[in-house]
Amino acid sequence: MSTRPRISARISAISESATLAVDAKAKAMKAAGRPVIGFGAGEPDFPTPGYIVEAAVQAAREPRFHKYTPAGGLPELKQAIADKTRRDSGYAVEASQVLVTNGGKQAVYEAFATLLDPGDEVLVVAPYWTTYPEAIKLAGGVQVDVVTDESTGYLASVEQLEAARTERTKALLFVSPSNPTGAVHSREQTEAIGRWAAEHGLWVVTDEIYEHLVYGGAEFTSIATAVPELGDRVVILNGVAKTYAMTGWRVGWLIGPSDVVKAATNLQSHATSNVANVSQMAALAAVSGDLSAVAEMRTAFDRRRQTMVRMLNEIPGVFCPEPKGAFYAYPSVKELIGKELRGRRPRSSGELAELILEEAEVAVVPGEAFGTPGYFRLSYALGDDDLVEGVSRVAKLLSEAH
Ligand SMILES: Cc1ncc(COP(=O)(O)O)c(C=O)c1O
Repeated sequence: MSTRPRISARISAISESATLAVDAKAKAMKAAGRPVIGFGAGEPDFPTPGYIVEAAVQAAREPRFHKYTPAGGLPELKQAIADKTRRDSGYAVEASQVLVTNGGKQAVYEAFATLLDPGDEVLVVAPYWTTYPEAIKLAGGVQVDVVTDESTGYLASVEQLEAARTERTKALLFVSPSNPTGAVHSREQTEAIGRWAAEHGLWVVTDEIYEHLVYGGAEFTSIATAVPELGDRVVILNGVAKTYAMTGWRVGWLIGPSDVVKAATNLQSHATSNVANVSQMAALAAVSGDLSAVAEMRTAFDRRRQTMVRMLNEIPGVFCPEPKGAFYAYPSVKELIGKELRGRRPRSSGELAELILEEAEVAVVPGEAFGTPGYFRLSYALGDDDLVEGVSRVAKLLSEAH
């Protein structure tokens, strides 16, 4: 019998998605009849707008959409994405610079697979979204963390980035608004970081999936537009999931220089071919329509964001900077680690999250999932009443810590 490992080292090294795991556990408890409130999921609680669903229904009836289409995306969708990018970011691209992917997630994988050789380093600001490390690792790249905390609202400075740069640094991952922290860089900060990257010949991979979810005075700035000096070393990742409540439709895209897009399209042509045509036609209706649906969601998210942050900051031992974008709050719970709670003494935010799930029937994602233990991520993309009830339960439980 062969003694070779059954699972390859490359794939064994990939961890389960912690956010999906928390969500699955909460859903299983719910199915078993327990009144769990989940703050784990990273998706809007709204249905996809009706006109988008209607476009999909019509597409499903057309025989040409029952067939394979170009691996890189329907030409009309690529053009609409190029137009939308000019409309929303002021960034001029041709349809040939767009690759339509199976969700933003596939765009993340393909971007790193296309840019990285083994040993190439990528600067990643922590806390970071769970998928990035796995995508970088799979591509043979080396992630270099640039760790931030609540004292700066989770924003990295140029000095911090420069301290992490080496001769092997190929790219900077720039995510603003950020998942998991909701941090949003100002235009000035974005320009400073972009210019520093350009000066050192670094690629910038920028994930703009939360571009339309910013609150209060915060503004989204596309680093590609703000820093023209980056030239042809920018790759933009985006998708319809968060803006149009379309997480289940699986349409995202990658925008970049034509050599990168061509190479990534070759990869996709062997991996998955074209994205489902019905979903592409739904995405076409979404990106070529107006932004009224996201404006409505934004109003609801903003209200919930303010309620959540206020309630979290009232809990002794919890500190939550105000998130300016996306739909997550990222409070520090460091002061509560090691305290006694219901006869136990959680030694990490992971253990504290487990205790909260068992005792308060509330699911939060521990900071371990995002590279920074000592924090929780709570999504505020859930109904107002559930949000208040869930945070109240957490507050009640945590007030017993001593
Ligand atoms: C920062 C970020 N980028 C990309 C994605 C990918 O979204 P999807 O694959 O659903 O389009 C997500 C989803 O959670 C995200 O939070």
